[in-house]
Amino acid sequence: MLCSSDEIRTALREYLAWWGLRHFSSDREYFAWQRQQFSSEDLQQLALHVERKRTGDRRDEIAFYDLAAQPRLYPVLYSQRYEYYEEIGLRTAAHLGQAKEVLDFGCGIGVLTIFYARLFPEKNFVGVDRSSASLAVAQEKADKLGLRNIRFECVDVETESLSGSYDLVVATHVLVQAEQDHGLPSRSWRTFDRGHSPSQQLSFERRIGLAIRLDRLCRVLNQSGRMIVSEKTRQLARRVPFQRALAKRGLQLAERPALIRYRTVEEVVDDGPFYVLDRKGEAALNWDEDPEQDQGQPFDPDAVSTSAGDVDMPLYENHWPSAQTAWEQLKDREVIRETTRQAADGRQVHAERGRSRGWQYLYCANTFDQRQLVIVEEARSAMLDEYYQEILRGFT
Ligand SMILES: C[S@@+](CC[C@H](N)C(=O)[O-])C[C@H]1O[C@@H](n2cnc3c(N)ncnc32)[C@H](O)[C@@H]1O
Repeated sequence: MLCSSDEIRTALREYLAWWGLRHFSSDREYFAWQRQQFSSEDLQQLALHVERKRTGDRRDEIAFYDLAAQPRLYPVLYSQRYEYYEEIGLRTAAHLGQAKEVLDFGCGIGVLTIFYARLFPEKNFVGVDRSSASLAVAQEKADKLGLRNIRFECVDVETESLSGSYDLVVATHVLVQAEQDHGLPSRSWRTFDRGHSPSQQLSFERRIGLAIRLDRLCRVLNQSGRMIVSEKTRQLARRVPFQRALAKRGLQLAERPALIRYRTVEEVVDDGPFYVLDRKGEAALNWDEDPEQDQGQPFDPDAVSTSAGDVDMPLYENHWPSAQTAWEQLKDREVIRETTRQAADGRQVHAERGRSRGWQYLYCANTFDQRQLVIVEEARSAMLDEYYQEILRGFT
């Protein structure tokens, strides 16, 4: 029996190595390995399927995961998710609690499901996925380990119901996967508030397939059961409608959500939050719909001063949501020109060129929570005029 979190982490690393997964500290090393393992046809096939998955329908998504499950490909591909497995796997393992019957929805090739089943032989696990090739890999791996407390079911929850009854449902990276979806816009460029339009909410839930997935998962979750979910919902435009979809189905926060950060090849991913939910009806914790505390430079309108160093540096620059507060604090603000544009789907952008106490500024805000404030000296105002035009050209 493994007890400490260090022991569980070590066990997870040994287990990932058993899958043939490697951890890379540099992208160069990863791609060198990938070049050794993949032929140019493999790379072409993958690129084609990634593109079809991005632009196509559920059949294209299934075809992508079937391809990724090929034994020649998955160790290299899923090594990109090494730190994700650590981050999500260890957190989830720490929350399996008293649950006896656990469903891992969208288990893929079963990397995490099998890890949990090995760690907790007294619990029963069911992994569900709609990629039959992924489940074939999962079954083979579970058999190799001689596990008796795990089984897999091929179900597409978009088209079929789930059966059974579970104390815990785990769904990670499977509920909100439509990365190109803009989510729910704020009511106007002036606010981060989304308003409460049931039709907009329903449209979001339906177009990304969230409604049907959540409804079917809720049906197999025991009344006293828990749900663990974590998705790519860091942006407010996705986080707010996702949280509302959970709340609408009676799911509440059992603990404060944790933000998830890990490195994949070529980027540091800010995912999450990681939610632990129940339906106990003692909702002590509120859903947070505010922008996160960001890394924007604090703004003091009385302390903007000519930079002694690099003349190319703006006097103040903020590309985070807190740029809105900084813009609101500008003193003696004089607008030189401003434009607000609205696209047919309701998206709005606002660009504003102005003066404040002898400095020149550019402020830009849109309904997808992007904010930008740049302040420069009078002599450098042409640079802001160029940015201003660029922002408007980029919004069609
Ligand atoms: C990004 S992978 C995540 C795998 C795993 N949950 C993890 O966290 O590593 C998403 C998986 O969800 C599965 N999936 C997506 N929609 C599904 C649906 N409607 N029914 C069953 N499986 C689905 C896909 O086939 C794929 O294997």
